[in-house]
Formats: sequence, C-alpha cells, structure tokens
Amino acid sequence: MTKEVLLDVGVILDYVLGTGDYTSVQYIIDKISNHQLYGFFPAGLVPLLSHLFEQKVTETPHSSTTYSKDKLKEVMSHLQLITTTGKDISAILDTGSSLTIEAAKRVCPDVMFITDCLSSLKQSKAFTPGAFVEYYKNRRKKKTDQVFFLNLKREYTNLMEEVDQALLSVGAKAQYIMGPEVSQFETDAASYIGTKHAIGVASGTDALVLALRALAIHQREQEFFNEEDLIITSAFTFTATGDAILRAGATPLFVGIDPDSFNLNVEHVKKALSTDHVDKHRIVGILPVHLFGHSCDMDAIMNIAEQHSLFVLEDVAQAFGAEWKGEKLGSIGTIGAFSFYPTKNLGGFGDGGLVTTCDDRLAELVGMLLGHGGKDKYNVEHIGYNSRLDTIQASILQVKMRYIDEFNLRRRKIAEFYDQGLQDLKDIKLPLLYYDSYQHIYHQYTICVTDGRRDQLRSALKEKGIDTMVYYPIPLHQMKVFDGQCVKGEELENVESVCSEVLNLPIGPLTSCEEVELVVTSIREFFYGGN
Ligand SMILES: Cc1ncc(COP(=O)(O)O)c(C=O)c1O
Repeated sequence: MTKEVLLDVGVILDYVLGTGDYTSVQYIIDKISNHQLYGFFPAGLVPLLSHLFEQKVTETPHSSTTYSKDKLKEVMSHLQLITTTGKDISAILDTGSSLTIEAAKRVCPDVMFITDCLSSLKQSKAFTPGAFVEYYKNRRKKKTDQVFFLNLKREYTNLMEEVDQALLSVGAKAQYIMGPEVSQFETDAASYIGTKHAIGVASGTDALVLALRALAIHQREQEFFNEEDLIITSAFTFTATGDAILRAGATPLFVGIDPDSFNLNVEHVKKALSTDHVDKHRIVGILPVHLFGHSCDMDAIMNIAEQHSLFVLEDVAQAFGAEWKGEKLGSIGTIGAFSFYPTKNLGGFGDGGLVTTCDDRLAELVGMLLGHGGKDKYNVEHIGYNSRLDTIQASILQVKMRYIDEFNLRRRKIAEFYDQGLQDLKDIKLPLLYYDSYQHIYHQYTICVTDGRRDQLRSALKEKGIDTMVYYPIPLHQMKVFDGQCVKGEELENVESVCSEVLNLPIGPLTSCEEVELVVTSIREFFYGGN
C-alpha cells in the first residue's frame, strides 16, 4: 500500500486539542513517528493552521495554550512540509484546485489524504482518520506491492524537508564548485570518522585511485606505481577495487576470502607474503575491503603491514560508520576510501567519495590530485584529475550524515529480524553475527544458499514481487580486464563457490518489518512449503 499520507488542518487541530476523532489521529501520528507511514503537510497552510489553533484555544476555556502549542510543534516535527510553487498557485486560480491537492500531486502522487471533512476534498484517496485506521489495520499485500531491494524514494521522502532546504541553500549561494558545503562536510566527516583529514572527491573509485596515486608520490617519489608493484586485495569485491590498482599503475594480487565474513582471509595474506611469486614482483601494500559493512580483522592486517612495511588502504565504500574495536573504519589504515554512490549506506543523489587519513602529506597530495594536480590549478605539479566532490552532493551528505548512526542501527535491527526468521533453515548460511569487535552495519544482508538452488530461490522471490541481488556473481580474477594483469594467490576456489551461492536480501534503513516478514515467509515457503 501507499505509505504516504497528507494530514489536513482539521485533523491536526483535533489531535492537538483532543477533540473529534483524536485517538485515530494519534494512531496515525504514532505510525509516522515509527517510519511506518510518511506524513506530509503543505507549508502554505501553516499560517492558517496557526491562526485556527489560536482561535480554537481562545474558544476552549479549559485548554492549556502552552501544552497544546508544544503538542502542535511536536506533531509538525514528524511531518515533511511541502513547499508551494507558482505552478500550484496557477492551478488553484485556473482550475479551482486546492493547495493540499496541488502540493501532494507534485511531491507524492499516490498520497492518501486524511481529512475531517470528506466533502471539501474531492479525492478518491481521501479518508477520515477512523476510516484510514480501519483500512490500514485490514490491509493485505496486493499483487502490485513490491518489496524493493532498496527504496531510495522512501529515504528522500523521510528527509525531504531538510534535503530540499540544503539544495535551496546551494542555489542561493551559487558556489557550485567547492562551495562552503564541501569544506563543512569534510570537517564533519573527519570528526565523525576520527581522522585528521577527510577530503571529498568525485566518486568511491576516484577515492581509491587518488589515495593510491598519493601513496606512490609520497612513498615512491613517482607519479604512478609500476607493474611490478603488487597490492594485495580480495578477489570478492566490486570491480572498482581491483581496477583502481591498475589505474594507479600497480598490479593486484588477489587472495581468497574467509567465507564466514566474506572478507580478505588473513591467512591467505600471510601466505602471499611468504611466497616467492614472480621474481620481479614486490608487495607494496594491502587493500582490505570491509565488504557489506563488515570490518576486516584490522588488528591482524595492521600487524602484518607493520612487519612488512606495507601501506594499508581501507576500502570503506560499503561501511560508513562501521567500527573495529570501537574505532571507525577508514581511520585505522594508512588511508581510507569511501563511496557515496546513491545506494551506499551514506549515499548522495549522484556520485561522490571521500579519502580519510591522518597523514598531512597524503592529504595534501589528494587535495592537489583532485584539482588537476597542483595547489594552483594554473601551475600544476602532478598528473591530476578533475575529481572534486560536488557542492550539491556535499549539502545532501551533510544532512544524511546526521542520521547515519540511527540508520545503521535500523539496518542492524532488520538483520536481527532476518537472523531470527531464517536461522533454522539448513540450506541457508546466514551472515556472521556482529559482536563487540565488529560493529557490522549491514550495508548488505548476504546469505549463502548452499543447496545449489540460489537462482531458483531468486526467481521464486521475484515472482512474489521481492527484489534481490547477487553481489558478486564473478570473482575479480576471472574478469577479462584482469586477464594477464593480476597475480593470483592461492585458494581462490573458495571465492568462486561463494559467488555461486550468495544472495543479497532487501535491506535499507527504512525497510519495514512487514517487508522483512514477507521475505522471510517467502523464503521459508520455498524450502519447506511455509513451515
Ligand atoms: C567495495 C567498493 N569499492 C569501490 C566502489 C566504488 O565506488 P563508486 O561507485 O562511488 O565509484 C564501490 C561501489 O560502487 C564498492 O562497493
């Protein structure tokens, strides 16, 4: 069902003043504050609401104005205000439409209207509060209802007012390139992650490439690494991790994973370091990927790196806010690279990325590389890029970062629901439970279907309108791009078998319990006919 509801003036007044069917309104407001429904109100009607509120309070001898005003503020804080545009006004003047209807049409066309006066709102989707509550309690999943893998529209709807304000403010300042929002976001991100520096860049891929280029310049005094330089990384990750190594001039050395955590297997890393690969090669660094929001064993990786004088570049694209023993990922290695691709747990409305480090020189180099390669772009020192974080993206990320802990916590709760619902299914392996050392943020909830029927399960879920994904179907060492351009460590077979078993279930900060329940029931039906 549609989850967006628009409350009209009379309904809000009833709730605040305890008049009319205020208990039904209370029920709706509770659902809104728990993110089970999304509530809206046209900003243009706020003066009318305020005026009628004052009038009613004066008319009602026993009501306490202060108390009611607090309640009014409280309810409004749960509602997203829809701004009024010239187009809305024209429609009202030309067709006799209302502000409520025009505002809703523009922002969420499927919205349901909750009104105390049905006759004034000629809308098929209009309900009185009581009728809506009855409808809501008796709703059934319709065939057309879909469980999205990730519902980005819902995330926008939930923060619409703040995001819109941020965007308007960028427009008003008109500093589109490196506006103040970029440096403010960088300061906030550095303080959140716990590094001295955080530098915004154009994407997660660029964050990896620029970090590697800065390491080559700083540690090797050359613009790029050489083909002979090996960087150890996982064969089970997004292409960009390995591709960035090639773009920085080095060669990836792919090693196997720990199938429980899906992360770089530390024993395989040690083995790679003790093997005489090819005479000309030498290992210069480790690039651990905190896949699906789950930390690698950073104690072990940092120990190995120290023993062999290697740099550690953390790929934190999927783990903003995740921790290893109380420290935020991206603050432990030599340098960290984040992605703000829209589907990431901290995502923008387009591409974006971030490099984090405590090393002043590396930070300075990344700062130069992202702006054509020099402190002064008209007199450059290095082969640089145009890879600035967009001001608009920074403004959105600033808003979304305020909610990152709450949203990561919601992801953990959803993971717990999945764990509880699926734990007894013998043909499914659940992701590693997070515990104290690992603050998993479940960017993805990834199961392994161990009886060879992963694709059948995926199709069965699709038929029920449930979207799933397979991250990742092909290990990096089997991709054409790395053919002859990588070194294969031992025990990569385990990556190949994981690729044939993994299935990512729908998860997002605003995935509802009902949706999780439906996914769980459908999976149980597939294996055991619903038992
Ligand atoms: C593990 C990993 N590394 C790197 C990237 C690259 O990030 P972007 O898409 O922002 O370039 C991604 C995401 O897409 C990723 O998941």
